Parts: sequence; structure tokens; C-alpha cells
Amino acid sequence: MKKKILVVYYSISNGNTKQMAERVKEAVGADIAPIETVTPYTGSYNEIVEQGQLEVNRGYEPEIKPLKINPADYDVIILGTPTWWYTMAPAMLTFLKSCNWTGKTVIPFQTHGGWPGHVL
Ligand SMILES: Cc1cc2nc3c(=O)[nH]c(=O)nc-3n(C[C@H](O)[C@H](O)[C@H](O)COP(=O)(O)O)c2cc1C
Repeated sequence: MKKKILVVYYSISNGNTKQMAERVKEAVGADIAPIETVTPYTGSYNEIVEQGQLEVNRGYEPEIKPLKINPADYDVIILGTPTWWYTMAPAMLTFLKSCNWTGKTVIPFQTHGGWPGHVL
């Protein structure tokens, strides 16, 4: 039976990860779902970078909205996150902890600005 593939991504600052996720979706014939935080990030890019540093340092897991698609219905989950302070964006951490990954194939990818850190 053909495997069902879902791309789940988080993207806020430039839409870089969104663009990559959409290309992957087209290439593999997947469904796609964005992760959105309940409280949106606001302020300038530099303010978000600073807030992100505080959040990463304390392992903060922001509340996220329920996905419109249920990951449990898929065999393969492709996960895309931007790099925030050398790791995944906090919203992706929340998502990772919210799912049961038993039996799933997970394929992560990241976008970054030249300092990829230890995301993957
Ligand atoms: C809070 C924050 C922290 C970041 N930290 C890093 C980093 O540690 N290393 C890096 O290479 N880029 C870093 N960046 C740049 C982003 O990873 C990069 O621009 C990414 O492609 C943004 O994805 P998006 O447009 O989908 O949100 C950071 C950006 C933000 C907003």
C-alpha cells in the first residue's frame, strides 16, 4: 500500500521553511500542515531573535494550535523547522512532544542562516 506522507513545518520570520516545505510536498506528493503558536510572535526581527534566545535557553514550549490534519493518519512525517539559537524553534519542540511517534518514519529538515547548530 502506498505510504501516506505529511509535511509539518514551522515558519515565521521570512517564510524560508514554508517555501522548502511546499517544495517537498510537491516533490513527494504529501499533505502539508503548518504549526502555529496560540500567541503569535510580534515585534521586529531582532526582538523575535532575542525572545527566541530566552525561550530556547529555558526550554520553553509555547502552546500551539491543533493541526488541521491528524499526524496519526500518516506513515511518514517530514518535519521542517528553522534554526533558533542552534536548535529547533520552540514551537517544533512543543509539536514533537505532542505526538505519539511509535511506528512513524520521521524525516527532519531545517533551514538556517549559516549556523545550523545541533537541530537535527
Ligand atoms: C529567534 C531566531 C533565532 C535564530 N537563530 C539562528 C541560529 O542559531 N543559526 C542560524 O543559522 N540561523 C538562525 N536564525 C535564522 C533562521 O534560522 C533562518 O532565517 C530561517 O531560515 C528562518 O526560517 P523561517 O523564515 O521559515 O522562519 C534565527 C532566526 C530567529 C528568528
